[in-house]
Amino acid sequence: MTNSWNFIYAADMQPGSPKSYRFKPAYAENWRTARRQIMDRHPEFLLIGGDVTRDGYIHRWELEEMKADFDGMGIPYHVIPGNMDTGNKHTDRTSGRPDRNDVTLNMTSEELQTFESVFGPSSWTFDHRNVRVSGFCDMLLGSGLPQERELWDWLEKQANRPKSDHNIWLMHYALFLDAPDEPAFDITAPEHYLDWYFCVDQGSRDRLLDLLKKAGATRVITGHIHCRKEHVVDGIHFDLAPGIAMGQWFDRWPDGDASLGFLEYTVSGKRIEKRFVPLEHESTRTDGYGPGGHPLPEARDYSLAWETGGQS
Ligand SMILES: [Fe+2]
Repeated sequence: MTNSWNFIYAADMQPGSPKSYRFKPAYAENWRTARRQIMDRHPEFLLIGGDVTRDGYIHRWELEEMKADFDGMGIPYHVIPGNMDTGNKHTDRTSGRPDRNDVTLNMTSEELQTFESVFGPSSWTFDHRNVRVSGFCDMLLGSGLPQERELWDWLEKQANRPKSDHNIWLMHYALFLDAPDEPAFDITAPEHYLDWYFCVDQGSRDRLLDLLKKAGATRVITGHIHCRKEHVVDGIHFDLAPGIAMGQWFDRWPDGDASLGFLEYTVSGKRIEKRFVPLEHESTRTDGYGPGGHPLPEARDYSLAWETGGQS
């Protein structure tokens, strides 16, 4: 089709590192596959929705290695942080799960500063042809960190700008799971832990959604869940994106799809079409070492590492 052009959204590649206390070669292999497929498609730009690392909030070198990977693709790209890169969204209480201490996983100002020292400011906006894309660090929402105030000011500013045909937003956490007016999920209720873990808390959500509407948002693309799903609310598309490292939450929605891959958007004037591009090959490697999830610091055993030089 003439006059149509494409861009790509990819997230949750978290390849990890064999210098770390944990490593799964399958994740790294899946990222190599996705990277080659993205380059083959020659998008005009690449949007990266966070969790570019497995433990970037502990290992600055993981952030730097991924920056080198992105730089080498020859495609203009724009990155927001994910919780594996900077720390999680905030909570004032722990879930009580024995394998993690949720409060200590709250993102800190310093962790966000480290991410920004590698990738640049975490709030950004740009216009390309008739598309505007804006991204920010949603782990700040409700955090009370000094950068949260600056983020709200920036969001207000975006909401008051002249409109564009396509107004696309990137966040790492989903804004909601089923409906924008769903209540805040209780982190201490085991049956709702994952609901809490995967979306923005009510409160921040209402305020943000008002601003997105005011900004003329047409689409909000989020990662973190690694299960593909789409909602449309008040004319805004909410694209829950697939993962690249591995799938998650296969059973959350009857029409959710945790297949691995990325999203390609084709723009023709005022039309925009989304297409899921599956990985050509999902790694079948099962080797590797170390714990999954968000292990307690004492569970980080760097003597398991396949390569030296990782423990800082
Ligand atoms: Fe995440």
